[in-house]
Amino acid sequence: MKMASSLLLPLLLIFPFLLHPAHSKLTLDYYNKTCPKFAKIVQEVVVDKQLAIPTTAAGALRLFFHDCIVGGCDASLLITSNSFNTAERDHKLNQALPGDAFDIVIRAKTKLELECPGIVSCSDILAEATRDLVSMVGGPYYTVLLGRKDSIESRATDVEGHIAKPDMTLSHIIDIFADKGFNVQEMVALVGAHTIGFSHCSEFASRIFNFSKKQDHDPTMNPEYAKGLKKLCANYKTDTTIAAFNDPMTPGKFDNMYFQNLQRGVGLLASDQVMMFDPRTKPYVDLYAANQTAFFEAFSRAMEKVSVHNVLTGNQGEVRKRCDATNALKTQ
Ligand code: HEM
Ligand SMILES: *[C@@H]1O[C@H](CO)[C@@H](O)[C@H](O)[C@H]1NC(C)=O
Ligand SMILES: *[C@@H]1O[C@H](CO)[C@@H](O)[C@H](O)[C@H]1NC(C)=O
Ligand SMILES: *[C@@H]1O[C@H](CO)[C@@H](O)[C@H](O)[C@H]1NC(C)=O
Repeated sequence: MKMASSLLLPLLLIFPFLLHPAHSKLTLDYYNKTCPKFAKIVQEVVVDKQLAIPTTAAGALRLFFHDCIVGGCDASLLITSNSFNTAERDHKLNQALPGDAFDIVIRAKTKLELECPGIVSCSDILAEATRDLVSMVGGPYYTVLLGRKDSIESRATDVEGHIAKPDMTLSHIIDIFADKGFNVQEMVALVGAHTIGFSHCSEFASRIFNFSKKQDHDPTMNPEYAKGLKKLCANYKTDTTIAAFNDPMTPGKFDNMYFQNLQRGVGLLASDQVMMFDPRTKPYVDLYAANQTAFFEAFSRAMEKVSVHNVLTGNQGEVRKRCDATNALKTQ
């Protein structure tokens, strides 16, 4: 004990930042003086886009999560590949992210560059837009701190191992979240994001076609639901665009229906449904199914945590001039 404290004090004097993680440099009023219209401009772009294309919110939420969980919330996922580099965006796990989600950030950035050039980072725009979209489709309004800087690199090879896949065991998925500092309760709340959006048939085909020698579909799946999905996905191998709602009951509304679905065997991905049967996750599924307020509170706290994950601040990174390329790449 004596050893430990006598070592810790001088360490803290030399490295005061040990007490100040990067996200503590983020603030709520970061743009109040330098770009007072920041929130208003993002909000306007978001509302216009979501009303025109209602699938945008889900796309943006998944885009934001995938950006934050690989490296950190640094807009590295917005960078496009070029002849020298294959970017995160072109990793297989990110290829289904819809263009409309990227478009929101590009549109807001264009307006913000006219209003206050060189001030607002792409990562802040994505964080703010995602929160606005979640609340616009019925979800909670959580706090988004500001002052992130954008990454100066993006590599597809960095993605593997950080993003969970539906065919992983629950233990593996829990480990992936734990590596980023999220406990099981936070994980269950975050996956509640599947209350909106789509999944392509290939992501759950093994549950509905030739599941086992004895059973054609996964027996944990509601039989009527399985029947409907088989019909929907009948041609999924030739038409790879076919997708099913993650929450077939209230697909466009951010609510706790996703958890109620799990209780009825109406979970789409294997990784969704398994949370209902594992004693580590089931208590939270039941809690959030019964109490939407509890889900919204847990989701908000967890998203606030996601949104400051490994952020770049101060002299780290840069404020990109355009969100799809680093500033050093002037030739495009
Ligand atoms: C157990 C962990 C997770 C797994 C295995 C998983 C897997 C997937 C898969 C396979 C899709 C379908 C992609 C497609 O076919 O286009 C999807 C969609 C989606 N995921 Fe997850 N996910 C997980 C956690 C999360 C988390 C934590 C969030 C956000 C906080 C999230 C947000 C979304 C959203 C919003 C969609 C719909 C996207 C759209 O409609 O464009 N997911 N997820
Ligand atoms: C910053 O601006 C926002 C939006 O205009 C306002 O709600 C907030 O109170 C301001 N914060 C401070 C500390 O001035
Ligand atoms: C299921 O298995 C049968 C027999 O092996 C095969 O003919 C069929 O194409 C399989 N269906 C799918 C969707 O993979
Ligand atoms: C639902 O959860 C909220 C937030 O945790 C709590 O305050 C409330 O008492 C819960 N309601 C019920 C009916 O349990």
